Amino acid sequence: MRMRKKSWAEPFLTEHDDVVIASPDSLKGYWKNRLNKQNLHVEIGSGKGDYFTLMAELYPEAGWVGIEKNTNVAAIAAKKAVESEHDNQLLIAQDAEKISEWFADGEIDVIHLNFSDPWPKTGYKKRRLSHRRFLEVYEKLLCENGQIIMKTDNRKLFEFSLLEFAQCHFILSDVNVDFRAEDHPEDVMTEYERKFVDLNQPIYRAVWTKLSK
Ligand SMILES: C[S@@+](CC[C@H](N)C(=O)[O-])C[C@H]1O[C@@H](n2cnc3c(N)ncnc32)[C@H](O)[C@@H]1O
Repeated sequence: MRMRKKSWAEPFLTEHDDVVIASPDSLKGYWKNRLNKQNLHVEIGSGKGDYFTLMAELYPEAGWVGIEKNTNVAAIAAKKAVESEHDNQLLIAQDAEKISEWFADGEIDVIHLNFSDPWPKTGYKKRRLSHRRFLEVYEKLLCENGQIIMKTDNRKLFEFSLLEFAQCHFILSDVNVDFRAEDHPEDVMTEYERKFVDLNQPIYRAVWTKLSK
């Protein structure tokens, strides 16, 4: 996501340290305590934050954490989280490459990958958030029967992901190649999703469940 540098972004992220967690490793193993919730959802690559902030309102009984590495974009997400009436949402404005340093094994219930960057060139496929090197990390961080839910407009990324998950310790629990053809009031739209739906493009969605050992 390209965006002009916002001078207010970094100061805003620093000022709102009740919502924007600067040292996420300090909460490793304590995210549910911090949020005072039994269930933890984490969205990786949360962009401008529509998804995790609106889902946090729809599901106030759960805790929601967004992870976004682009400071300018993360600041927009942070503003939404700060202004929300619901305090069950936190943001990490850093690169998810370090996610295993921030969450304990088995701590997360659901990971959301929404419209992740496709990195179309083969040479960059390791950067895809559904590459097996990430899936192996997610598997550790997820609880027993934990899930990963992915939505994308990108057919090639979706096909790649189906094959990657098949190589890892997950079972495909649900798949839909035109998710928004029907109403899904249980799931809100992301910023990217809204654009693709307005263009009548299909939304691919899959749910994988971690296999028990
Ligand atoms: C295509 S945008 C989608 C944004 C949002 N999820 C949506 O659906 O509207 C992908 C976002 O993921 C972020 N991202 C990509 N790789 C990331 C990583 N390793 N850690 C954190 N954020 C990442 C990018 O900065 C970008 O904002």
